[in-house]
Parts: sequence; C-alpha cells; structure tokens
Amino acid sequence: MWEKLTSLADSLRDRPILSLFNDDPARFDSFSARAEGLLFDYSKTNIDADVMAALLELCENADLTNKRAAMFEGEKINDTEGRAVLHTALRNLDATPVMVDGTDVMPGVLDTLARMQAFAEDLRAGRFTGQGGAITDVVNIGIGGSDLGPVMLDIALGPYRDGPRVHYVSNVDGAHIHDTLQGLDPTTTLVIVASKTFTTIETMTNAETARAWMAETVSDTGAQFAALSSNLEKTTAWGIDPSRVFGFEDWVGGRYSLWGPIGLSVMLATGPATFRDLLSGAQAMDHHFRDAPFPENLPVLLALTGIWHNQGLGYATRAVLPYEQRLLRLPAYLQQLEMESNGKRVSMDGSDLPVNSGPVVWGEPGTNGQHAFYQLIHQGTRVVPCEFMAGIQGHEADLTHQHDLLLANCLAQSEALMLGRSLEEATALMADKGFTGDELMRQAAHRVFPGNRPSTTLLYPKLTPYVLGQIIALYEHRVFVEGVILGINSFDQWGVELGKELALKLAPILSGDEPADAKDGSTAGLIAAIQAAR
Ligand code: F6P
Repeated sequence: MWEKLTSLADSLRDRPILSLFNDDPARFDSFSARAEGLLFDYSKTNIDADVMAALLELCENADLTNKRAAMFEGEKINDTEGRAVLHTALRNLDATPVMVDGTDVMPGVLDTLARMQAFAEDLRAGRFTGQGGAITDVVNIGIGGSDLGPVMLDIALGPYRDGPRVHYVSNVDGAHIHDTLQGLDPTTTLVIVASKTFTTIETMTNAETARAWMAETVSDTGAQFAALSSNLEKTTAWGIDPSRVFGFEDWVGGRYSLWGPIGLSVMLATGPATFRDLLSGAQAMDHHFRDAPFPENLPVLLALTGIWHNQGLGYATRAVLPYEQRLLRLPAYLQQLEMESNGKRVSMDGSDLPVNSGPVVWGEPGTNGQHAFYQLIHQGTRVVPCEFMAGIQGHEADLTHQHDLLLANCLAQSEALMLGRSLEEATALMADKGFTGDELMRQAAHRVFPGNRPSTTLLYPKLTPYVLGQIIALYEHRVFVEGVILGINSFDQWGVELGKELALKLAPILSGDEPADAKDGSTAGLIAAIQAAR
C-alpha cells in the first residue's frame, strides 16, 4: 500500500518546490482549496498531481469514505474500548438523529447543553451565588483533554470574555493550585472539577486541596462545586449536587470533549451565544468534511500533506505556527489531539505498523517563534514541515498596521523557507560588504539557506468563535483521516497507562511507607537520593 508513495518520495525528495511554480504558473490555484471562508494553501510543498493521485489512492485503499460514515453514524470504531466516537454529535445543532445502540443520543446532548446554558446564564447574571455573593472567579480543575481545550479556547476567545475570571489548574505539582488560589476569595469562587473518569489522580488531588481551601471560609463547600464527568456515580459519591453535574457519554473522547460539558468554563466566561457560535463553526466543518469530494476537502488535504511529509518523506516532526497570539495554546492542544490519537505502534488488528506513526507536533505563535527556534527550521540539517496559519483581519481595529506586519512576517517565513539563499547569492552579499578570498567563502557559507523546505498556510477571515470552531474541527478530522490511512485506532490512549500505574506504586515508596526493593538501579538510586535529602 505504501510502496508507490515511498518511491515517489525517494525520487522527488530533492526536486525544488520553486520549479513546480515555474512549470505551472497556476500552481497556487491547483494546490490550494477554499471552503467555508477558509483558504488552505499547500502549493509550497513538493506535492504534484502524481503525488496527490497516490495520496488519494491511499484514502481509497483505507476505505476512508465508509470509515468516515461509520464515525458520524455512531459505529463503535474505537474498538479497543468498544465505544462509538461522536464528538460531532455535541455540535449537531440541527438535532438530526444520531443513533448509538438503537437510541438517538441527540435529546440527551441538547438537554445537557440547555442545562449548561441555564447555569451559565444564572451565574453570569448573579442569580447563582457563592456564600459571599455573585461569583467573581471560576477555578477549572482538570488535565489533558479536560484542560487543554478549555485553556486554549479561553485565550483564543479573549475579545469575547465578559463573564467571571476563569483560572485553570491541571498539574499535580502543588505550586499550580497554590498559586492559582492565592488571592481568590473562596466565598465568591466556583470550583469546577472536570474529569471524564472522575478518577484521574492529578485532578482528584487538586480537587481535594481546593475543597479544603474553601472549607476554611465557606460553610457549605458543596454548593460552590460543579462537576463535568461521565462518571455520575463518582461525582455523587464525592458530594457534588446532581443539579451541578454536567454529564457526557463514553463516546466523547477526552481530547475531543471541549464541545460539551468540558467547555462549561468557556461558556461561563464568554456566554452561551459565543459558545453556540463555536459549535456552529465546528458543525459547518463537519458538514464540509462529510460532503466535500476528497480533492476539495480541507481535512483530507491537510491530512494528506501530513502523510506525505511524515510517512512519505520521513520528516519526523511538524511545527504548527499560528500567526495569532491568541492561539498561544493551540500547539499544546494539538499535541494532545494529534500525538495521543496517532502515536500508536500497531494497526487495528494488533500487527506492527508498516510505516511511522504520527509525527511529533510542536510550535509557538509567530512572530515569537521566529526569535527562538526558526533558526533550526531555516538552517538546521533536519527538514521540519511548517503549518502556518493566520487571520486576514485582527480584532484590534486601531492596530491594523501591526496586523499587516504580522501577516508580512508570516508570508515572509514560508517564502524564505521555500526560496532559501544560494551560495552564489550569499557570496555576492558578503562581497558587497568587503569580504574577499577564503574569508569571503567562510562568511558566505554561514549565510546560505538550503531552501526547498515545505510549508502550508491556512488563512481564515478573523478569529471569531465560529472560525475557531471551524479550525479545531478541521484539525480533529485531519487526525481522523491520518489515523484511517495509517490503519490505527486514533481514539484510545493505552500509552499513558503504564506511567500512571507505576506512579501509583511509587508514591508510597517515596513517602517511606513501602520499601523500594525490586526497582531498577536508576529508579532505586533516585528514590534513595530524594529520601536522603529530606
Ligand atoms: O492522559 C490520558 C487521559 O486519559 C486523556 O486522554 C484525558 O484527556 C486525560 O487523561 C484526563 O482524563 P479525565 O478527564 O478522565 O480526568
């Protein structure tokens, strides 16, 4: 299945991308796609018609059409956990029936959304209060998918925030909750415990700490706690009143959960209407993904560039580079989305993957990254495919000159990556500065850029809630398509379990309650060093 792609990659690896533009002046039109107000440009890659044909063949071979339908229709495609994968149902605002085990899940989804809205309206209007009056601060305690999505949205939706201040605590490091609670008034704070399983050690430990902090001042702490979870037995046992428990089903994966109750903190901060716009944008992308032919389908095209760069050309990482300060935490969010989903070493049937699993995903907003790691992207020995994204307009109407500068930087980077600077050009540059002989050649060598480094650019009109919903859903579906082509289960995460198990065993050893025998030499040595220093 992969031979055609890898042999194309071998033969085309060094072909200058620029030559493709010289051969085909209309290349931009052929190798970019517009949908729903978004423009995805992949012309600055080495993909040509033959490569695209081979990539589309991979989609056919992987039965993408039927697998996509199976996901939307609620089949249990997460088959190592026996679960459907239906985050799309959370933004199915038309309420068209979605069946799981013969039952339409939509009435339940919409009922929970309505309960979230009612709670948000009450809290924002000061009708839901703490012991000291209207809620001024919300502390969302969660980790992984119960944190990264809401945090990313909270920053991205800055211009739309008009509710209580929201703070996020994730790390079991006591510093995180300590620093967050410092300065907050417990009598006007709501604590949200966000955990799908309601068993995650970091979250439950931080929740206990928050409860103890609140109990010092507040007589009925339970009245100022809410829970977002699939495990209603555990939320009740923990003492959270069912009226403030917002549940979701096991067919919502943690890293796909921001569209439902896990997004409550965002709804509290920005209001139900903004949250609905976010859902509408995601729903529009769902429709596009479901209906558009593959060659015009943005998630499919984004996935195929990823497959070409990673499994085809063997580039092990990809950088996500939003030229949008408010997408500060998008790379971190995408790290979980992509790496927890597609960081798998076996196919659905348990056999070894014949190619590499998904890539390492990393990044920072531009222009900050330019002054940090772009040096390596331009002149390092490894090729890092870059995924640029930028809004055509910013929110700051009085600072359009800064926005233009931002966009100029974004375009300049992808241009520089493709064009590079030849030895000839670098030599001429340094000769102009007065260098001659061996020193001229030595100085010029440092100023050569190999170029021919691939990138894609996603342009969107403006970072509104609707557009943000589109972008996140675009990436979700991209991950799905890559997973289908790789033949893996993108919806389980067994890889995080072993460390969790070992941490639980190590905790009593570190506290001295259990002996450290049977530990490997390094771990035993580290335990001894910690204990000796206490
Ligand atoms: O890191 C593993 C994981 O299960 C993620 O998939 C999930 O988002 C995170 O832990 C948090 O889980 P929970 O919401 O159940 O606390």
